[in-house]
Amino acid sequence: MRSKIVAGNWKMNKNLEETEALLATLSAKLPDTQAEVMVAPAYVNLSAAVRCLEASKIEVIAQNMHFAESGAYTGEISADMLLNIDVNTVIIGHSERRAYFAETDGILAKKVQTALDHEIRVMFCFGEELEDRKANNHFNVVENQLRNALFSLEAASWSRIILAYEPVWAIGTGETASPEQAQEMHEFIRKTIAEAYDQTIANNVSILYGGSVKPGNAPEIFGKPDVDGGLIGGASLVADDFIAIIKAI
Ligand code: PGA
Repeated sequence: MRSKIVAGNWKMNKNLEETEALLATLSAKLPDTQAEVMVAPAYVNLSAAVRCLEASKIEVIAQNMHFAESGAYTGEISADMLLNIDVNTVIIGHSERRAYFAETDGILAKKVQTALDHEIRVMFCFGEELEDRKANNHFNVVENQLRNALFSLEAASWSRIILAYEPVWAIGTGETASPEQAQEMHEFIRKTIAEAYDQTIANNVSILYGGSVKPGNAPEIFGKPDVDGGLIGGASLVADDFIAIIKAI
C-alpha cells in the first residue's frame, strides 16, 4: 500500500531563528494523521531542524544534492553529508533547479542514482511548462522526464522513489491544475510506470501533486484516487496553512 505524504518545500526562505520557530509551531499543532509529514528547510538549517524535530513525527528532508561522492564542487552537498546529519530523503529535479541551475535529465538521473546507492529516498519532481500544455504535449513531456531520469533504475529501487508532479505553470503562480487535470496526469503517470515496470510498482509509488496547493483547494485535489498527497511551497511557510493542508489528506 502506498503512503500518503504532505511535504513542505521551504526553498530559500527562513533563517535559523525563523526555521526553529516555525518547526516548534508545526510540532505543537501537528494533527494526528496517517500521512507522512516532511519539511525541507534550507541547507544551513538542516542540522538544527533535525535536532528540533527529534521527538516529532515530522521528517526533515533536503532540497537538493550533488551526484559526486565528494571533491572539488564548490557550494555543493553530498549524499554522505546528508546521511551524516540524519537526513534520509532528498528532493531531486525541482523545476527551479531545472530552470535556474540548468539541471538536465542526464544530471538528474545521476543524482537519483547516487542517492539510491546511499539508500537515500528520492522525491523526484517533474512537470510540463505552459507551452507544453497549450500544445497538448504535456503527456509526452512528462513521460520523457520519467523515462530519462528513472526508467533505467532497477525495479527494487522504486521502493525508495516518491514522485511529485508539479506543472511548472502552477508553481508559485496561484494557478492550480484542476483536481481533474491532476487526476488525469497522475493516472497517466501510474499507467506509464506499469508499462515500463509492472502494476505492483505503479500501485505502490506515491505520486504527490505540487503547484499552488492551499488549504482551500487541498481537500478536492487530495480527494482524487491517484493523488497521494502534496508538495507544498508557499503555503508550507505559514504554520496554520500547512497544518490545514495536512488535515485535508
Ligand atoms: P507552490 O510551490 O506551492 O508555492 O506553488 C510548490 C513547489 O514549488 O514545490
